Amino acid sequence: MIGVLGRGRMGSALARNLAVQGKRVLIAGRTRDGTRPVGLASYPEIHCVPAPVVVARSDLLVLALPFDAAVDLARDGLLDDGRGRTVVDTTNPPSSVGGGRRSGRLLAELLPQWRVVKALNTVPAGMLGEPVLDGRPVTVPLAGDHPSAKIECAALLCGLGFVPVDVGGIDRAPALESLAELLMAIDSQHALRGRLGFSLAVPELSAVAPASVAWPDRPPVPVGERQRLAPPAVDNIRSTPGRPPRPSR
Ligand SMILES: NC(=O)c1ccc[n+]([C@@H]2O[C@H](COP(=O)([O-])OP(=O)(O)OC[C@H]3O[C@@H](n4cnc5c(N)ncnc54)[C@H](OP(=O)(O)O)[C@@H]3O)[C@@H](O)[C@H]2O)c1
Repeated sequence: MIGVLGRGRMGSALARNLAVQGKRVLIAGRTRDGTRPVGLASYPEIHCVPAPVVVARSDLLVLALPFDAAVDLARDGLLDDGRGRTVVDTTNPPSSVGGGRRSGRLLAELLPQWRVVKALNTVPAGMLGEPVLDGRPVTVPLAGDHPSAKIECAALLCGLGFVPVDVGGIDRAPALESLAELLMAIDSQHALRGRLGFSLAVPELSAVAPASVAWPDRPPVPVGERQRLAPPAVDNIRSTPGRPPRPSR
């Protein structure tokens, strides 16, 4: 069960696209009554519940809240039910928050019992259903200190059609937040209305996946055609820490 805290643009878009894959999703906003927003009405896989239920019943939790709200929830102990699980932090702090300890790092410190992965903060909400741009799948960088959590997060991203790229430990979260800031600046400069992303060019994508998602061989994505990439088979995922060996082909 995937839990999403925040049911605004990011949380709702994520929940809808997970539901399209047949995943069951628990989602919450601030209200405790569990009413279903109009945009989620036609997705029986999505269950609107109070936030504590999302925290208690999710196997993997996604934070799609304003940064300050996520920090408040963490500081108030509302995300702590004593069970360490993976949390995907999509937040981008306001640029005034800084001092070298930005969102991902700070949340990881506030949530020591969780395995925090910073990811999806570079993906505009509208792109969650369109993971391919100009014929190329969009790259989603992720950062975290826990290899098993990065693999879980990578599987989620693959399911959504993105290419996950491991950028290292949670200390790299500020770089992802700066990248998001840069993408937002490009968006605004060229009025792209959230239709942008980047596709990393490397000799072998499997070499930069979290340790290690072995990518199945796949044909090039046809230009202009939306294509969901198959999630990696569980057998192909190794949780060996450290840099992944290149899979033999
Ligand atoms: N929008 C994007 O394209 C995008 C892309 C990448 C990352 N992000 C990041 O995703 C996060 C959410 O952005 P957004 O655009 O989705 O914002 P949004 O549309 O304003 O939605 C924010 C959601 O957070 C909920 N919320 C606020 N405080 C809460 C609390 N204490 N407990 C539970 N829920 C709470 C709100 O609840 P109510 O429904 O009750 O008001 C609302 O559903 C931000 O950190 C943003 O930086 C956004």
